[in-house]
Amino acid sequence: MPQPVIIGPSVLSADFLRLGEQLRELEAAGADYIHFDVMDGVFVPNISIGLPVLEATRRGTSLPIDVHLMIVNPDRWVEEFAAAGADTITFHAEATPHAHRVVQTIKACGKQAGISINPATPVVAVEEMLPFIDQVLVMTINPGFGGQTLIEETLGKITRMREMIERINPNCRLQVDGGVNVHTVRRVVEAGACSLVAGSATFATDSTIAENIAALRDGYS
Ligand code: DX5
Ligand code: ZN
Repeated sequence: MPQPVIIGPSVLSADFLRLGEQLRELEAAGADYIHFDVMDGVFVPNISIGLPVLEATRRGTSLPIDVHLMIVNPDRWVEEFAAAGADTITFHAEATPHAHRVVQTIKACGKQAGISINPATPVVAVEEMLPFIDQVLVMTINPGFGGQTLIEETLGKITRMREMIERINPNCRLQVDGGVNVHTVRRVVEAGACSLVAGSATFATDSTIAENIAALRDGYS
């Protein structure tokens, strides 16, 4: 049976002065989870938010929190992000030579584990890890910034990842992140994604969060 499509707004595009209020709006709008982007200025050319904001987000919502670590040495930080409120922790395959150890650490914390690949990284980079993880994140942009345009060439990669997941671990979610909006959402779902991160599309200010999420759902259903 195909996995249901779920939507996770990325709070990277939120108004941090009104984070609590916007988290309540996201819940009321039917968001399935919260995507939380952590950038270290080393793995990606930007610095975003970290542990104190995650702790505040945890207090502000009962939705699952999906932490996307765009950092080097993810193994060094797993316990801290687990303790601060993450439900799922996704790290980058490119960021560590010891993906298996990182997954073991995430699981030892009782959390779900995800592995992400950048646009230049082939799907086979995660093949050996698929049996052990809950989610694969195929980046549809080069990570580091919200509001970028989806790289069209990643659509074929989503389909190849879907085929690999069906063969090796059909319970693994296929998440996409970057440039997901009303214009691209149908194609990423048709390519095989079932978990959609949407930052700028969710928080676009010319309409409400509820309208933006409803438009995304209409875009693929
Ligand atoms: C970028 C982050 C994304 C970002 C997506 O590196 O990983 O989660 O917030 O933003 P949009 O949806 O605007 O492309
Ligand atoms: Zn992200």
